[in-house]
Amino acid sequence: MTKKIQIAIDGPAGAGKSTIAKIAAEKLGYTYIDTGAMYRALTYKALQHQIDLSSEEAVTTLLKQTVIELQPSPNGQLVFLDGQNVSSEIRSNEVTSQVSTVAAHGTMREIMVERQYEMAEKGGVIMDGRDIGTAVLPNAELKVFMSATVEERARRRYEDNKQRGIDSSFEALKEEIALRDKMDSEREASPLVQAEDAIYLDTTELSIDEAANAILKLASERMA
Ligand code: CDP
Ligand code: CDP
Repeated sequence: MTKKIQIAIDGPAGAGKSTIAKIAAEKLGYTYIDTGAMYRALTYKALQHQIDLSSEEAVTTLLKQTVIELQPSPNGQLVFLDGQNVSSEIRSNEVTSQVSTVAAHGTMREIMVERQYEMAEKGGVIMDGRDIGTAVLPNAELKVFMSATVEERARRRYEDNKQRGIDSSFEALKEEIALRDKMDSEREASPLVQAEDAIYLDTTELSIDEAANAILKLASERMA
């Protein structure tokens, strides 16, 4: 008899969290929730409305007036902001470069965490982000902290961009990733940190299949 569990995957940008969580969720028949997309959607709206991103009060008020919905689809998770599909818009360079400033606000995060907890309540869920094992799902049966060297993570993003026909500089990508890691790890409100009971998975030398299989093996142990 297998039980439906909660799986929390945290780690820095480009570690492979969403790719691997998506594959594992499909294999297990679980719901995949990309929490980064919610912070990105809020950042996108804040930029559109020219909100002061460094103002905790302004950003928190904005979130209270915002509906963010995540919907699974054959092409990955779709993101709706107040009913509008913003799945591509939230991946822009502008959003990527500003999202860590928005995500640093503690009172805004409290609301996000509450919403994310409700999404995961029924179990049978794989959620990825920065604070899932520490703040959103502290009782998750399986917690994984996924990482890889910053060079490898930048290389992956470079390849992603190339595939999408976007010209980018490897050095600039490496800098952007390192800065985001620093901001996410050093903020006061639920920083990016490995939960005490999380398993560390270094994906630098792993293929996507190898990393997904490692997660599936751990999950089957916890489901038994
Ligand atoms: O996919 P990528 O690694 O580029 O980032 P993401 O998962 O889309 O997250 C974007 C940003 O949202 C992160 O750099 C964090 O600043 C923030 N975030 C967060 O603070 N907490 C989460 N649970 C998820 C994302
Ligand atoms: O979600 P996160 O930011 O942690 O990373 P991702 O968006 O899932 O992965 C970034 C890129 O690295 C994707 O193009 C993946 O296909 C690739 N990847 C890889 O080459 N090898 C792995 N073991 C994991 C991911």
